[in-house]
Amino acid sequence: MGKNIVEKIMESHLVSGKLKEGSLIGVRVDQVYTQDATGTMTWLEFEAIGLDRVRVPLAVSYVDHNMLQSNFMNADDHLFLRTAAARFGAYFSRPGNGICHQVHLERFAAPGLIALGTDSHTPTGGGIGMIAIGVGGLEAASVMAGMPFEFTMPKVVRINLLGKLRRPYVTAMDVILTLLKMLSVKGGVGKIFEYGGSGVKDLSVTERATITNMGAELGATTSIFPSDENTLRFLKAQGRQHQWIPLEADEDAEYAEIIEIDLSEIQPMIAQPHSPDNVVPVKDIKETKVHQVCIGSCTNSSYKMMKTVSSILRGRTVHEDVTLFINPGSKQVYEMLAHEGDIENMIAAGARILESACGPCIGMGGAPGSGQVSIRSYNRNFKGRSGTKDAFVYLASPVVCALTAIKGEIVDPFETDISVEEINEPESFKINDNMLISPKKDKDIKIIKGPNIKEVPVKEPLENTIHAQVLLKLGDNITTDDILPAGTQVLPYRSNIPEISKFTFKNLDENFYERAMNAKSKGGGIIVGGENYGQGSSREHAAIAPMYLGIKAVIAKSFARIHRANLINFGILPLIFVNPEDYEKVEQGDILKIIDLISGVKGSQKYVIFNESKDSSFEVYSNLNDREKELILN
Ligand code: F3S
Repeated sequence: MGKNIVEKIMESHLVSGKLKEGSLIGVRVDQVYTQDATGTMTWLEFEAIGLDRVRVPLAVSYVDHNMLQSNFMNADDHLFLRTAAARFGAYFSRPGNGICHQVHLERFAAPGLIALGTDSHTPTGGGIGMIAIGVGGLEAASVMAGMPFEFTMPKVVRINLLGKLRRPYVTAMDVILTLLKMLSVKGGVGKIFEYGGSGVKDLSVTERATITNMGAELGATTSIFPSDENTLRFLKAQGRQHQWIPLEADEDAEYAEIIEIDLSEIQPMIAQPHSPDNVVPVKDIKETKVHQVCIGSCTNSSYKMMKTVSSILRGRTVHEDVTLFINPGSKQVYEMLAHEGDIENMIAAGARILESACGPCIGMGGAPGSGQVSIRSYNRNFKGRSGTKDAFVYLASPVVCALTAIKGEIVDPFETDISVEEINEPESFKINDNMLISPKKDKDIKIIKGPNIKEVPVKEPLENTIHAQVLLKLGDNITTDDILPAGTQVLPYRSNIPEISKFTFKNLDENFYERAMNAKSKGGGIIVGGENYGQGSSREHAAIAPMYLGIKAVIAKSFARIHRANLINFGILPLIFVNPEDYEKVEQGDILKIIDLISGVKGSQKYVIFNESKDSSFEVYSNLNDREKELILN
């Protein structure tokens, strides 16, 4: 039987398990990269593992998320990341070099490889024919330490593209917005999207990368395109043609599902507030008044798109009611735009040019005014993400965004008097890697840590008995934000677990921290939750901080997948009520005793909990796989 692209790459990297949907498999990883928001913890974790050098062929540490230097903390984090990269043999992409996904695509990604990144938009690399997956920090650190990457093999879904886009009015952004409308933000859960069909050759690598980038919004594990002539052209233009290999699915390859899209039927689309799948055709909401336009991010910062924006702005003025921000995603594109006079066009039109970084995408500057409308060529428009809780954020192509900036209202590119030029992909990109610091050979480099950077706390192996107090009893759908909030007050402490721990459950219970610290020396604490405990982001801090505070176990009716993995990674036992009604038998403040834990983890995974305060007992279980058992025991 023939193979699809995903199977071909996975098979050549497989080190354990059977390549079958739903099985636990282990693969060898070629590249790992981090960004600063998750990276400080990842590199502290790698340091704690105690190895001299990374044990993957390539590791890169990027700085793109938190660029605001309002005090010493962020600058110290950047220096830590630079010296840690030098010490452990990773490339360091200096602040200003660009957004991790775009720079990685330009300078490192290659067809046929497997890459992990500590950011959910890592699948951008799928545009070049690479399997690129977003993971948590400890996962990345373990893989950099030489472990295989273990995960459950997702379903492979084929997306068959036919026809050609109606350029220049319709772009790759409209393709992925169309898919989001069709499939919703849950449509890709447990799936990898593999693109194919005759329409693929109509798309350049950077256009493909826009589509795979926002595959993350579909909830997909990753997305991937074949490697063909267009891939070779891109790699040649980047001076990396030697990294090209052809890659396509066999004629008789099998898929869990096949979806067909005719590119020629796609129209300009727009995601309305407050979800990337709340998509309608642009023409349905044209003439909506707009106050802010943001163009760039890791989704839509290619040379071609930025040149298109420049050509729309040339000789015109941004509407007087609109603020236009432009953040080119990489120094490479920025430098080319500057060299070719495009930055001049943008400035002359009244655009506010930002540095090559995430910026307004994560509310690091550029927040809209209260109640204002912002239209962005970015990938997320969740409520409050812009930094303004009551703002209305829309997502659309750079073409729609640029036209809207001029007119002050949402514009359908097919219905405007402004002509849009079709820009070709460049024959060659400007290669200047002076902001990428190569791995050093010297192993004696000192890692510099400012006063806000602390070691990752280490937990002892699992004890045979937990005898602890229920420090907090919670309801259903507790989020990682409830466990450890984000925000400007909290994030500066991302490299300082003792300090960030003070914010644990703070929004739910002001006194939690004091209670936990008190209990820590008396056997620690237990958290009791309802259904779907730990839903939301992949934030590792929501497991590390409770571990630091002495939390030994969380007993819940059910757990969210990523948070459960993070709890296990940091040695906190996730236990599930055998009878959900037993949830009622526990109260905050009760003293619980769980015995024979070690033999329980190794054997039946069933445990009796004695509630000493109520003189009663109930049963719980853990459903750990072999790898998780090993992690918890150690
Ligand atoms: Fe940065 Fe926004 Fe992409 S935060 S990595 S530009 S999704």
